[in-house]
Amino acid sequence: MSVIDGKSLASQIKAEIAQKIQYYTSKGLRPPTLAVVMVGEDPASAAYVRNKMKACQEVGIKSMDIKMIDETTESELIAQIHSLNADKNIDGFIVQMPLPAHIDANKIIENIDPDKDVDGFHPLNLGKIMLGLPALAPATPKGIIEMFRLMNINLAGLHVVILGRSNIVGKPLAMMLLQKRQWANATVTVCHSKTQNLKQIAAQADVLIAAIGKPHFVKADMVKSGAIVVDVGINSIPDPFKKSGYRLVGDVDFEAVKEKASWITPVPGGVGQMTVAALLQNTLEAYEKNLNLL
Ligand code: GUN
Repeated sequence: MSVIDGKSLASQIKAEIAQKIQYYTSKGLRPPTLAVVMVGEDPASAAYVRNKMKACQEVGIKSMDIKMIDETTESELIAQIHSLNADKNIDGFIVQMPLPAHIDANKIIENIDPDKDVDGFHPLNLGKIMLGLPALAPATPKGIIEMFRLMNINLAGLHVVILGRSNIVGKPLAMMLLQKRQWANATVTVCHSKTQNLKQIAAQADVLIAAIGKPHFVKADMVKSGAIVVDVGINSIPDPFKKSGYRLVGDVDFEAVKEKASWITPVPGGVGQMTVAALLQNTLEAYEKNLNLL
């Protein structure tokens, strides 16, 4: 078994991005700018946002932190989005999810300018991704595919089983891995909460991708010997030995599964790092398009 070092792979991507930004700014251009909108004070979301902004700083992307109170109305948030859409100096922005229950996330996403949608959540971007057309792709699926590319793992013809059908991971990842192109060409099965014989299907996977949000859901008996296991889960579980009182674990029972897998991603230090790197790639792409640099 070998552990995939997401941190080191993400550093490679970040170094490439930093180099490009340095080139552009040396020519007198302004740096790329990302705005991050967060509504409310969910501590997990706040931690993700801090990570994203720190990563921006590392590569030379200017980031803007827009915090809105929990009581923000849907129309106030939409007004904020329209103002970011209109601002020529903002290349891309994201609205951190989840949003408070009184706000319809789909309505919010539909209001984002697709060219500034660096999360790749807008229906137009997702539709293009499904068709295999160039578009801003959702960060986590893009980061996972980048991880395979950098590790030179060719998925052509392999059976990839994805556990989870979310709009931000499972569904777009399935579409992206299905494309007729390099670093894709997989045979894809998507399992979910209503799937019968999920264990047996998972155990047939050459590549098993867990994105269901259930701590330690994937056990050793669900994994074929020699499979590649990718853990997308970030779950907080109580841990009296930690100062914070909790620790982060994935959807995979890492200790048991690592003995059977050929490659496995850890949590933390795996897919999460790649997601942030892909967000930076998308921001650079949006900037290059905004400034007509391509
Ligand atoms: N919440 C969990 N993951 C994500 C993400 O990739 N983007 C946003 N905006 N919110 C999230």
